[in-house]
Amino acid sequence: KARVAILISGRGSNMTSLIAAARDPAYPAEIALVLSNRPDAAGLARAAEAGIPARAIDHRRYPDRAAFDAALDAALREAGIDLVCLAGFMRILTPGFVEAWAGRMINIHPSLLPLFKGTHTHAQALAAGVRLHGCTVHFVVPELDSGPIVAQAAVPVHEGDDPDSLAARIIVQEHRLYPAALALVAGGRARLDGGRVVIAGAPPDGALLS
Ligand code: GAR
Repeated sequence: KARVAILISGRGSNMTSLIAAARDPAYPAEIALVLSNRPDAAGLARAAEAGIPARAIDHRRYPDRAAFDAALDAALREAGIDLVCLAGFMRILTPGFVEAWAGRMINIHPSLLPLFKGTHTHAQALAAGVRLHGCTVHFVVPELDSGPIVAQAAVPVHEGDDPDSLAARIIVQEHRLYPAALALVAGGRARLDGGRVVIAGAPPDGALLS
């Protein structure tokens, strides 16, 4: 099984969905480590409760991004990590770190990329007037929210939605999408080919659409 580390900054609800999925003996990945850049992240306690080694690497204790990323990298290597999942991890990673984990690091982003990169994606979607919104799991590349897409889930935008109501509709899909996407990557069924992701074998199941 692939040994997976999850990087978080906050409540860790996506992390919890990955931990739950990986409890299935047939799941192709095990969650071996949770790291947070924020010592007060609620997700750290949730991971520990689930019996997963979890610790903070406080970015404020490092002089610059490169030093923080070197500490992250050392922790990942020490734990024998194969794949990294960013799950609400709100630090920009240096190109050097991203290159070191190229093809082995995925992220979940709360929009249908390439629309609405960065933060406040639900407000961005409402401002743009789109009728469909959603979430994306993608490989991480140095450019923010721009890597090859593994899987997406869409939700309708309703009249009267505000950023909170949209977030609530989308997080449900995030919790389905991320475990399905990690299974594709960890199982070797999602493969990078010329900057795109090719999915091998049977079509992904309904968890990837809504
Ligand atoms: C999720 O909606 C995730 O997609 C988003 O932060 C939230 C984290 O929630 N990630 C980003 O915006 C990344 N730029 P969680 O901590 O409960 O998983």
